[in-house]
Amino acid sequence: MQYKGKGFYGQFGGQFIPELLVPNFQKIEKAFDQFLNSPNLIDEFNQELHYYAGRPTPLYLAKNLTNYGKGAKIYLKREDLLHGGAHKTNNVIGQAIIAKIYGAKRLICETGAGQHGLAVAMIGAKYNFPVTIFMGEKDCIRQKSNVDKMKLFGAEVISVNNGSSSLKDAISEAMRYWIGHIDDVYYVFGTAAGPHPFPTMVAYFHKIIGLEAREQIIKAENNLPEAVIACVGGGSNAIGIFQAFLEDKVKLIGVEPAGDGKNHGATLNLGSIGCLHGSISKVLVDNDGQIKESHSISAGLDYPGISPIQAYLQSIDRAKFAMVTDAQAVKAYDLTCKLEGIIPALESSHAISYGLEFASKLAKDKTIIINLSGRGDKDIETINQFKNEQL
Ligand SMILES: Cc1ncc(COP(=O)(O)O)c(C=O)c1O
Repeated sequence: MQYKGKGFYGQFGGQFIPELLVPNFQKIEKAFDQFLNSPNLIDEFNQELHYYAGRPTPLYLAKNLTNYGKGAKIYLKREDLLHGGAHKTNNVIGQAIIAKIYGAKRLICETGAGQHGLAVAMIGAKYNFPVTIFMGEKDCIRQKSNVDKMKLFGAEVISVNNGSSSLKDAISEAMRYWIGHIDDVYYVFGTAAGPHPFPTMVAYFHKIIGLEAREQIIKAENNLPEAVIACVGGGSNAIGIFQAFLEDKVKLIGVEPAGDGKNHGATLNLGSIGCLHGSISKVLVDNDGQIKESHSISAGLDYPGISPIQAYLQSIDRAKFAMVTDAQAVKAYDLTCKLEGIIPALESSHAISYGLEFASKLAKDKTIIINLSGRGDKDIETINQFKNEQL
């Protein structure tokens, strides 16, 4: 992938940060370089992925979803089975090693769906770091089961009630807190967005998803898939699985939240070029050029920004981005429960919805892979509430 200058992917990326944080980012860049040049640290990362997190995750042929679609075979990459219940654990294990090199005494992070916060809380317990998690008030309510788990691991959860009370404001609040506590705090960023080197580093820690999936599909089918499909919030699970297929003749499709049809989080489809949380990418803006509130039934996709790497892949036409509404995602959630006995995260249900439709238009000898980025028991109340409101 083209990567030139300080964290730029084409015209996207960069490091637009307050002067006070410059030394912190220099330390993170140095720590990441040290990691990349150390076979021992890379080995530590791989060992933790295996023994602590449970990699490799299976690539599962979803026969009943395939029969339902009546087209291509549908494979699910089971990141929901990773320890913590989502792909987020890969990145957090990697950044915990970076935090140790950095000399951090405490960890902070933001979280939307609570899966990143949960992963940081788990790792904080394991490596003995006190953890403070910033989470929008709206998300604390709709993802309460994850808040309870974070607290169980000893983390402090701060409910943020500024702005949209969701992921964007949780990130802004975590950044503000960091500026006030620069000496001993490391900010574990949860997606492949933000200032350099976060997009590059988070993408690196997730690339194992695609490497495994590529090897597994070749073993199962002796062929590559027609398409790889993943939901996009900030873009980390999607870039995690896309990376291994960039040089192949495989369609890469990200799925954005079309929300309730009026309000959405479809940054790549409906946004403009702008700067949010320290890098240039696509963003949702209002008529005055201010960042617009996003909406999605799924907290993890409810973000008006996106990874600069995804914006770059869109700009060179290497990845396409579809949209799926709240109602379509809920339908896919239900179908996956009823047909496969798997509860998918509402985030991943967006990818499943689009994947089902896509597969139904392909011949039966084709295959697709959908990244099942996380488990969806956290979403049961949201689903029930959505259904009640439709009655
Ligand atoms: C299960 C799951 N999938 C997807 C996402 C979206 O994030 P990203 O686009 O960084 O993968 C989240 C975010 O919280 C999540 O919890």
